[in-house]
Amino acid sequence: MSSKAIVVQPGGGYEKVILGERVAAEPRADEISVRLRASSLNYHDFAVVSGMWGPGEPRIPMADGAGVVVAVGEGVSEFQVGDSVVSTFFPDWLDGEPVAEGFGGTPGDGIDGYARESVTGPVSSFTRAPRGWSHAEAATLPTAGLTAWRALMVDGGLKPGDTVLVQGSGGVSVFALQFAKMAGATVIATSSSDDKLARLKALGADQLINYRETPAWGERVRQLTDGRGVDHVIEVGGPATLEQSMIAARVGGHVSLIGILTGVTGEFPLVAALLKQLRLQGVLVGSRQQQIEMIRAIEATGMRPVIDREFPLEQIVDAFRYQETNQHFGKICLSF
Ligand SMILES: NC(=O)c1ccc[n+]([C@@H]2O[C@H](COP(=O)([O-])OP(=O)(O)OC[C@H]3O[C@@H](n4cnc5c(N)ncnc54)[C@H](OP(=O)(O)O)[C@@H]3O)[C@@H](O)[C@H]2O)c1
Repeated sequence: MSSKAIVVQPGGGYEKVILGERVAAEPRADEISVRLRASSLNYHDFAVVSGMWGPGEPRIPMADGAGVVVAVGEGVSEFQVGDSVVSTFFPDWLDGEPVAEGFGGTPGDGIDGYARESVTGPVSSFTRAPRGWSHAEAATLPTAGLTAWRALMVDGGLKPGDTVLVQGSGGVSVFALQFAKMAGATVIATSSSDDKLARLKALGADQLINYRETPAWGERVRQLTDGRGVDHVIEVGGPATLEQSMIAARVGGHVSLIGILTGVTGEFPLVAALLKQLRLQGVLVGSRQQQIEMIRAIEATGMRPVIDREFPLEQIVDAFRYQETNQHFGKICLSF
């Protein structure tokens, strides 16, 4: 059956985004067919679509996809027709240690993604979605949700009573705040906007810092923690925020290197890292098993994601233009 698909022409750029059609194949052994209903925007998808990291060949963008199983191939026992499912960022990283260097196997980058109505793929490319969630809610999880989960729960070994610093109010940081509160941690949140800080407080943030008004926010974090510093930093800013993040961390603290919102290269305060014996951990999303465990925790606690706005599939470029304004709080989704 033919269905709508967004295609980014080689090189990328908003003017190279077209609406096309794709035929989803019948599922073979160990495959399922999914009627996709939602996706969510991530900075990585923006890089592909906008042409910052444009594709080398025509590419269906978007790493996150959620929908309903409409057919199952031979030997499939994990899913049935009618199940709500959500995609995985690394279809080949099922469990254990990381296996992939980069995005060669990532939907929406190295392979076709989920800005389309129908897809057929291996069972391992999906997990069950959280019970009772809309497809848009489920589509927030594969990239932003799982990155925050892995950083705190897997790499960080977060414990009740730990202190976590989250930066800004984008998708990853809001999930990190929610997971940290779920686990009984104290959260210090930063934002450029006092209105957004009030919303972060409503989600459970214990201490707030406006990073525009307080450029030396690392020191402010130290003051707020009686000089100790935080156990975990969700580092999404990159070169312009890393130094403050390292100041904010406690001796032996854990800094998750996640984002590049301010660029991709910069000065690295090596001596500070040595003196403080920091654990700087590069993060690239997570495994399928980690996604299953995250969804189990979500269902046990009743947590819900924060969706700022939903756009139709055809308005994908408008959705990215909106993301570029940084007005959003939490996630932006496509629903179709
Ligand atoms: N490594 C991985 O696995 C992984 C996975 C997902 C995302 N990422 C990366 O993580 C970063 C965030 O992703 P996202 O999806 O959460 O993005 P997003 O939703 O677009 O986040 C944008 C928000 O980040 C905040 N921000 C921007 N510049 C900042 C700065 N200098 N200091 C502090 N906060 C700042 C702003 O919040 P306020 O308006 O509140 O200030 C802004 O609204 C991106 O670089 C993305 O590529 C990495």
